[in-house]
Amino acid sequence: MTKRLPNALQFSHQLLKAAVSPNDSVIDGTIGNGHDTLFLAKLVGKSGQVYGFDIQKQALQNTTDRLLRHKIDLKNIHLYQRSHANINQVLPESQQITAAIFNLGYLPGGDKAIVTKSKATTAALTACLDHLAVNGLVIVVVYYGHPGGQTEKEAVLHFCQTLPQEKYGVLKYQFINQMHEPPFLLAIQKIK
Ligand SMILES: C[S@@+](CC[C@H](N)C(=O)[O-])C[C@H]1O[C@@H](n2cnc3c(N)ncnc32)[C@H](O)[C@@H]1O
Repeated sequence: MTKRLPNALQFSHQLLKAAVSPNDSVIDGTIGNGHDTLFLAKLVGKSGQVYGFDIQKQALQNTTDRLLRHKIDLKNIHLYQRSHANINQVLPESQQITAAIFNLGYLPGGDKAIVTKSKATTAALTACLDHLAVNGLVIVVVYYGHPGGQTEKEAVLHFCQTLPQEKYGVLKYQFINQMHEPPFLLAIQKIK
């Protein structure tokens, strides 16, 4: 191996790349500054659909700016300033998705007191699993060094660990010898 192992964020993009094809529909549950939304928009192409959620106006602005800077056609990018807990109020019941990504924590460069929270996060994960296609992936990058982060981390781990193994495979990807609570990744695959 000539390259370093990817960090959790890099690995999330490798997994998305493998799971998502042109024309697919996907969800970015925490658009923030739009890095993942842009990545997903490129993967699904002009006839795919990206549904993005964030509770902060700043996140919608930053994401729209990023997409425009990269000349992404906004026609099929649906951004909502509302909690990801409400995904089912937006997504048609029959809408299948092949992937969803959540980057937990606060908006980098924004208000560090506005963070993702266990109840909304687990509600959003449940909604995504309802829409997920077989072999599709729901990916969570868990940052937990901030106040409240440990509680959310435990809730999300519990959610994942108690999913029935006949229906879902769950991967945890984590460097275990790093200081300062490095983020880790959870990937839930629907297997039937
Ligand atoms: C770590 S940032 C996301 C970074 C983003 N993926 C990017 O590429 O820049 C986490 C985001 O989650 C948002 N957030 C917090 N609670 C939320 C909720 N209930 N629903 C949707 N977004 C939420 C925050 O406003 C923040 O922008």
